Amino acid sequence: MGRSREYEGDGIAVSFEAERCIHAAECVGGLPAVFNPDSRPWISPDGASPEDVARVVSRCPTGALSFERRDGGPAEAPPPSNSLRVGADGPVFATGRLVILDAERRELCRETRVALCRCGASGNKPYCDGAHKAAGFRDPGTVETAHVKPAEREGGPDLTIRLRADGPLVLEGPFALSGSDGSAVRGAAAALCRCGASRNKPFCDGSHRHIDFSPDDPSAG
Ligand code: SF4
Ligand code: FES
Repeated sequence: MGRSREYEGDGIAVSFEAERCIHAAECVGGLPAVFNPDSRPWISPDGASPEDVARVVSRCPTGALSFERRDGGPAEAPPPSNSLRVGADGPVFATGRLVILDAERRELCRETRVALCRCGASGNKPYCDGAHKAAGFRDPGTVETAHVKPAEREGGPDLTIRLRADGPLVLEGPFALSGSDGSAVRGAAAALCRCGASRNKPFCDGSHRHIDFSPDDPSAG
């Protein structure tokens, strides 16, 4: 997981983790007086009210941007439910009360917004770093509902995303999963391919074993 850089303002501080930015441009389009790639530094937190900066930061779909209020204002509230959206030819975008676990179920971090690599080529797994473009990753991003298990009992609000060793992202907890064509399913358990080789994307079909997927190898996938 990458390093972030802090941009201090009087009312709010903004952090930016460059490796997680895939230039979706929500920030630049949303508040050009604060986020200007042609200025140095490129983020000027005092260029708008802390409320407006917080609002636009919260729209960053990858979690590359985050904030801390310095004026006593509220921290970012997670959305009321967990959702994942599969992008065509790109990552899966997740929002909610997200808890990322390693293969042994140790907590790595908590997030409200992430873009998760599903092509296998990111050098910053489990996050997308935009490598799917150079890798020529192609997948329409539709969702076949049969591969999601419904909730068997009432669980907590968190969605855990476990990085199974040399294998898929294992989801546990309540979520809605939607595809790029509008297909959508609710469930509580699923395994999403992150090696890029499944013939049943976005779900894992065991193909990672045949390609010797190793998430630590940036060329994997
Ligand atoms: S909104 Fe997030 S991912 Fe998009 S350009 Fe800004 S920092 Fe990068
Ligand atoms: S992670 Fe890609 S097939 Fe299992």
